[in-house]
Amino acid sequence: MADCPGPARRDGLILGIETSCDDTCAALVTREGAIRANVVASQGLLHERYGGVVPEIASRQHLEVLDSVVDDTLERAGATLDDVEEVAVTRGPGLIGALLVGVSAAKALAAARRLPLAPVDHLHGHVTASMLGDDPVEPPYLVLVASGGHTFLARVDHPSEYRVLGETLDDAAGEAFDKGARLLGLGYPGGPEIDRLARDGDPAAFDFPRSQPGDGLDFSFSGLKTSLLYTLSKGGQTPFRKADLAASYQRAIVDALIARLEQALEREGLERVALGGGVAANRELRERAQAVGARVWVPPIELCTDNAAMIAGAARFGHALPYPEYLDLDAAARL
Ligand code: KG4
Ligand code: ZN
Repeated sequence: MADCPGPARRDGLILGIETSCDDTCAALVTREGAIRANVVASQGLLHERYGGVVPEIASRQHLEVLDSVVDDTLERAGATLDDVEEVAVTRGPGLIGALLVGVSAAKALAAARRLPLAPVDHLHGHVTASMLGDDPVEPPYLVLVASGGHTFLARVDHPSEYRVLGETLDDAAGEAFDKGARLLGLGYPGGPEIDRLARDGDPAAFDFPRSQPGDGLDFSFSGLKTSLLYTLSKGGQTPFRKADLAASYQRAIVDALIARLEQALEREGLERVALGGGVAANRELRERAQAVGARVWVPPIELCTDNAAMIAGAARFGHALPYPEYLDLDAAARL
């Protein structure tokens, strides 16, 4: 008899799942790094009234919506689970309860079809986000990752690894945006709010500190919010222009990030730079990064903030566990 049509054709797609914080995300990415679908169900509004992410609420919401987010992702890509050849999931770092929802779902999806499962470091996802799409950055490159939980500079010589050159000693840059926004009476998350308000303000109206701790490439942002608090309390009844405060505060954060980026470029002698993490969605940072004297890759905003395309993308360079080796895989709040 002639060849049988074998089992369902597999299209080489990686299904990524990301639930490390307050966004429920799924994506389908090819081995070449083309994004077939990238879906994010944001929980922002659920947490806004508390002024920050409530871990228990985040986990419960992931549980509620993850199945539909995966279905939606498949539908948008015009694919079915038969087209998936590997599942990738964020293993950590992040909120442990939130991570567990993603890891359990990924294990179930993969095991039901005997597919391999790749556990992914969330930060490796941000580091390699610029390797997705038509014009991927190629190693060696320098990457600045600035998000709500992390801020660091790293060197990438091989897509499967990154070497941290400097990191924040206290608050992350996104945390500085979020805390500053709260002091200014703006909503959560604070980064986009300050970004918007800063457009109408004078960035030279107030002088906030630009801390550069030590001789290395570390960052420090905790003094900034204290300085903003002090400025606000000193003001008494003076009607400070909120837009001027937002613009000056943002300028101080962006100055600190760009200064370290330029020092790292010079020290490492690299010609390519990539940005990643939610703060890379910031308009001023995106513009200023273009002038650092290297070719710069700034991902589209949906690949800067948390998403599963970067998780599936990073899995291309990692090690997937064959079935059933991952059945006892655990999430990890810290890696
Ligand atoms: O990468 P991300 O989505 O989640 C984490 O892994 O933390 O980053 C979220 C952070 C938040 O602190 C948020 O305020 C900040 O990114 N962010 C921004 C902007 N959009 C998001 N910060 C400054 N300007 C923005 N446009
Ligand atoms: Zn992130």
